[in-house]
Amino acid sequence: MENRHGTILVTGGAGFIGSNFILHWLASEPAHVVNLDKLTYAGNPANLASVSSDRRYNFVQGDICDRGLVADLLLKTRPRAIVHFAAESHVDRSIHGPDDFVRTNVNGTFSLLEEARAYWSAINQAEKSGFRFLHVSTDEVYGSLSATEPAFSETTRYAPNSPYSASKASSDHLVRAYHHTYGMPVLTTNCSNNYGPFQFPEKLIPLVILHALSGKPIPVYGDGLNVRDWLYVNDHCEAIRTVLSSGRPGETYNIGGNNEIKNIDVVTTICSVLDELRPTDPIVPHKKLITFVKDRPGHDRRYAMNATKVETELGWRPKETFESGIRKTIQWYLNNEPWIQSVTSGSYRQWMATQYSL
Ligand code: NAD
Ligand code: TYD
Repeated sequence: MENRHGTILVTGGAGFIGSNFILHWLASEPAHVVNLDKLTYAGNPANLASVSSDRRYNFVQGDICDRGLVADLLLKTRPRAIVHFAAESHVDRSIHGPDDFVRTNVNGTFSLLEEARAYWSAINQAEKSGFRFLHVSTDEVYGSLSATEPAFSETTRYAPNSPYSASKASSDHLVRAYHHTYGMPVLTTNCSNNYGPFQFPEKLIPLVILHALSGKPIPVYGDGLNVRDWLYVNDHCEAIRTVLSSGRPGETYNIGGNNEIKNIDVVTTICSVLDELRPTDPIVPHKKLITFVKDRPGHDRRYAMNATKVETELGWRPKETFESGIRKTIQWYLNNEPWIQSVTSGSYRQWMATQYSL
């Protein structure tokens, strides 16, 4: 098939946000997608089953730390952009074992940047100026807010508190340096907590849904009053597409959902939607399952994003409210029992035993 619209290389496209992004991209854009993913415990090619026979989609299993593989892939596929999602992404896992976080998030991003720089330096002038390296990062690099502090802006000082956020902060600095030093056309997006279909059930929202459905205790860390700014994953995918097409190289853009909610309120909302949709579950009302457990070490109190820059400069705004997004998400988990079965075996059970003694 002729490929007049070029190709984008997505890393980590078999994970939660990456797979939503690829589905969203192929439904909205003509350009081809190559997905480079190592398939760690968090990567699941089944997330992309619906596009596996789309001739615009190609999957390559591999590690972003493997520089030979990345160099070959860039030469073969000649992408006009790299959208970099691949990372170790779970704070609790980074507390138990930070090594993989430094390896993939810091060294992996460095390897990818170096190979991207070699590729970008060798392409012709027109391709060079159109090329983009979009790095997907997090609000957690800014640290923790008190209840009254203003939301994080792009100029907030970095103050990462967990091995996860420190590794993401390091990668953000490397990306920034490649623009400043080499003039590479990079873009960085820092987004808040995502939720939606295909999220691995180690993260709060899918974990609560699954535990509520099966009558297991719902673990809430500490006093449950930590605040996150929830962003529906499809809104995030749309934001990335917007920044990729119109963002100014060298800039960073904060992406948030305008949904600051306390953890305990997230949990009780899920429980009441499930009371309505699943009145015959083993334990109803589902909120009877809420169990306060030992707090996460170094638990950040509050994250909040000021997304004014992307809104005023690029015209992006989230479409989903938390009420509408959480209903869609719960319904997706109810409709996708086989997906849940496929991700909750083996290593998942091991993780639950380590983290919650369940
Ligand atoms: P995820 O853990 O669901 O998926 C990560 C993907 O990266 C997996 O498919 C995994 O196999 C792949 N991967 C890991 N190490 C790799 C390596 N060395 N080489 C190639 N592939 C590798 O993560 P996610 O939630 O989809 O997050 C995607 C990105 O967005 C990450 O960079 C994360 O830091 C960032 N982010 C996520 C959130 C969130 O709420 N999930 C919020 C802010 C930022
Ligand atoms: P999580 O989904 O792990 O995202 P992050 O740590 O990146 O914000 O957690 C969201 C919030 O929910 C966070 O404040 C920790 C809390 N939490 C619980 O209370 N219980 C849980 O079992 C998990 C996984 C998280």
